[in-house]
Amino acid sequence: MKRILFFTLIFGWIIMINPSCTDSNAMSGKKESINMTNSVIDKKVADLMAKMTIEEKVGQLTQYSNFGELTGPGAKDENNAKKIENIKKGLAGSMLNVTSAEQTREFQELAVNNSRLGIPLIFAYDVIHGYKTMFPIPLGETSSWDMEVLETGAKIAAKEASAVGLHWTFAPMVDLMRDARWGRVMEGSGEDPYLGTKAALARIKGFQGDDLSSNTSIAACAKHFAGYGFGEGGREYNTVEISEHTLRNVVLPPFKAAAEAGVATFMNAFNELNGIPATGSEYLQRDILKGEWNYDGMVVSDWGSIGEMIEHGTAKDKKHASELAIKAGSDMDMEGYCYEDHLVELVNEGTVKEALVDDACRRVLKLKFELGLFDDPYKYCNEEREKNDVLTKENLEIARDAARKSIVLLKNENDLLPIKETVKSIAVIGPFAADKDTPLGSWRAKAITNSAVSLLEGVKNTVGNKVKVTYAKGVNATIGERSFIGELTVNHTDKTGITEAVKVAKNAELVLLAIGEDCFQSGEGRSQVSISLSEPQQALLEAVQAVNKNVVVVLMNGRPLEINWMTKNCPAILETWHLGSESGNGIVDVLFGKYNPSGKLPISFPRHVGQCPIYYNQKNTGRPVAKAPDVFWSHYIDAPNTPLYAFGFGLSYTTFEYKNLKLDKAFMPIKETLTVSVEITNTGSRDGYEVAQLYIRDIVGSVTRPIKELKGFEKVLIKAGETKIVSFKLTEEELGFYGRDYKFGAEPGDFKIFVGGNSVELLEIDFELK
Ligand code: NOJ
Repeated sequence: MKRILFFTLIFGWIIMINPSCTDSNAMSGKKESINMTNSVIDKKVADLMAKMTIEEKVGQLTQYSNFGELTGPGAKDENNAKKIENIKKGLAGSMLNVTSAEQTREFQELAVNNSRLGIPLIFAYDVIHGYKTMFPIPLGETSSWDMEVLETGAKIAAKEASAVGLHWTFAPMVDLMRDARWGRVMEGSGEDPYLGTKAALARIKGFQGDDLSSNTSIAACAKHFAGYGFGEGGREYNTVEISEHTLRNVVLPPFKAAAEAGVATFMNAFNELNGIPATGSEYLQRDILKGEWNYDGMVVSDWGSIGEMIEHGTAKDKKHASELAIKAGSDMDMEGYCYEDHLVELVNEGTVKEALVDDACRRVLKLKFELGLFDDPYKYCNEEREKNDVLTKENLEIARDAARKSIVLLKNENDLLPIKETVKSIAVIGPFAADKDTPLGSWRAKAITNSAVSLLEGVKNTVGNKVKVTYAKGVNATIGERSFIGELTVNHTDKTGITEAVKVAKNAELVLLAIGEDCFQSGEGRSQVSISLSEPQQALLEAVQAVNKNVVVVLMNGRPLEINWMTKNCPAILETWHLGSESGNGIVDVLFGKYNPSGKLPISFPRHVGQCPIYYNQKNTGRPVAKAPDVFWSHYIDAPNTPLYAFGFGLSYTTFEYKNLKLDKAFMPIKETLTVSVEITNTGSRDGYEVAQLYIRDIVGSVTRPIKELKGFEKVLIKAGETKIVSFKLTEEELGFYGRDYKFGAEPGDFKIFVGGNSVELLEIDFELK
C-alpha cells in the first residue's frame, strides 16, 4: 500500500466552526435565488462559506483519484505531488479510490491538519455490489425481485465501506438499458422503469439508511444523468438520441424517484444527449434536476467528463468546458483538472458568476455536514472496524441468501432439477466450474481475488463423500487482462481440453456445465458486438451434450446471452449471473433443492443480437400483426419479434396457477384507486415463492402507449397446494405518463390490466378510468 506524507500544521479543522453568519447566494434551478433555509446545517454552511476565498470554494469542487488505483483513463503520476500540495492548501474537496482506514486517515490528516480552514475531505468509491463481501452483480440481484435483498446488500456494503473511512458510493446506477451489447447492463436493474425505480429506492435506502451521519451509512449517488444506457448500437460512451417522450417516460423515472427519496448525490454522464453532452446540459441539471425536481443535493461529473466536452466538440478548451459545466449545474469535477485550473479565472473575469460557484460549494459542504464529517473527520475510518466488520461470517451468510434468491431457472425439462438424492456421480465441467474469481463479478471494489466459493467447491461441500464428483475445465474462457482497467482479449481458440471433458461427462449420471462470460467481459468499457458463447465454449457444450443427456447448464454472465442452441438441446438451464462471494454455495442451494428458485428476469434475452434493442414494454406500431400472407407488418423475416426469454420470466420447482382476476369496482373514478386481486394456487408439491406481476395498457392515449407496462409486483410464499389472494392497488400515478403536452397525468379512457408470473403468460381484464 502506498503511504503518503503528511505534515501537521497548527491550523486545525475546529477553527472554522464558530464564524459569524452571512448570507450566501445560491443557484437553485435556473434562477439565482437565496436558497439557504434556516436549518442548522444551512447556517453552518453559510458561516463557513463566509470565511472562504474563491480559491477555497473552487477547491471544494475538485475531486482527485488516489494514486495508482484507477477507474478511468489518463490520471498521471506527475500530478500526485500537486494533489498532495493542493489537499494541504484546502484546494481539494474530495478523493475517490482511497480504500483503507490507514489511507483515508492519512489523506484526511493532510486536509484537516494543514489547510487554513481544515475542511475534511469526502472519500468516494465505486461500491457497486459489495465492498469486500461481494453480493450478486446488480442485474443479478434485481432478478430476485426482492427489494429487501437489495436493501440489505447495500446496507452491508455501506457498513463495510464506512469501516475504512469511505463516505460516499457511486451507486446505484439507475440507467435503464435495452441492449445487451452494452457492458454496463451488469451494473443496472434491467429494462423497466417501474422495477428500476423500486430497485433504485431499495439500494439508496440500504446505503444511506435513515441518517447519513450514522457510522455505518454512506451517501449514495444516482448515476448517470441521463440517457447513458441508450448509447447507439450498445456501444460504450456512444451518442444518445432519445426523444423528450422517451426521456420523460422511460429514462427519468428512477432518477426522479431517487431525487425525491433524498439521494445525497447525482452523477452526470459521459454521453451526449440529443446533441448536448450530459455534463454540460443545463436542461438536465438545472432545468429538470435542480429546477423542476427542486433537488438540493450535489452533482458530481463523471471521470474527466467535463474535459471530454472538448472531444465531444462543444468546448474549445478546458476553460470553456469548465464554464459550460458549472453553468449547467455540474458541481464537482471528478479527476478532470478543469475547475481547479480555470474556475477562479472564469469568476474573476466575470464569465461565471460567483453565485454559481457558491451554490456548488454549498451543496458539497452541506453533504459533509450531513455526514457528520465536521464533528469528526475520522469517525468513519476505523482500523478496528476494518478488521472486525468486513467480510464477516454473518455478511457472507447474507450474501449466500442473496445469491440463491438471484438465480433464475430458465429451463427444467422433466424436472431434472432439483438433483435427486439418489444421484451417484456428478461431473462438474466448464471454464467457470472451478473458477473462484469470475463469480465476484465486475465492479468488485475490494473483493479479494479468487475468493468466491466456486461451483465445484459448492458441490463438494454439499455432497461430501456420498457422490462421486469429477471435474474437467474443457476450455478456457477467461479474458486476457484479468483486471477492471486493462485491455481485453477474449479470443481463445484452444479446444484440446474438450476430449477430457467428454470423457468425464460420459462417466457421470449428471453434468453441471458452468459456461458463460468472464466477469471482466461486462462492466464499463465492455461493449460487444456478439452476445453468443465463445466458439470453444459452444463446442464444449455440444460435445458434452452429445454424450450425456442430463446436462444442467449453469450460466455465469453479466448480460443476456444468445442461447438458442442450448435452449433447444439442454434439459436444464440455470441463470446465475455473477453471484458474488458465496456463488457456489448459493448455486448448490438451488441445484439440490434447499432453495426453490424464485428469480425472474429483469431484462429480455434476445433470440438474436440483431433484435437489440429489445424490451417488453414496446409500442404497438401501426402494423403489429400480419393481416394476410404478406410482408407488410412490423417484423423480421428471419426471426420472430419475441425474445427467447421474456422480461419477468423465471421457473420454480413448483407450478403456480393464476385465476379469478378481479377488480373492486366496475370502473376507476378519477382521483380514486382500483384494487386488483388474483388467486394464485401452488399446484405442485413444493413450497415456493412466486413473483406476481401486474401490467397495464392504456388503449388510447394522446401519445402512443406501450403494449404492456409493469405497475406492480408482489413476491409471495405459497405453500404446496395452497391458494393465496394477491392484491395490488392502482392509483392514478401508476396510470399516468407524460403526454402530448409533456405534462404528467393519467388520461381517462379504456385500460387493460394483465396479471401473471411473467410478461407473456397473463390473465387479462378491462376497466375504464372516468
Ligand atoms: C466512470 C464511471 O462511469 C462511473 O460510473 C464511476 O463511478 C466513475 N468512473 C468513478 O470510478
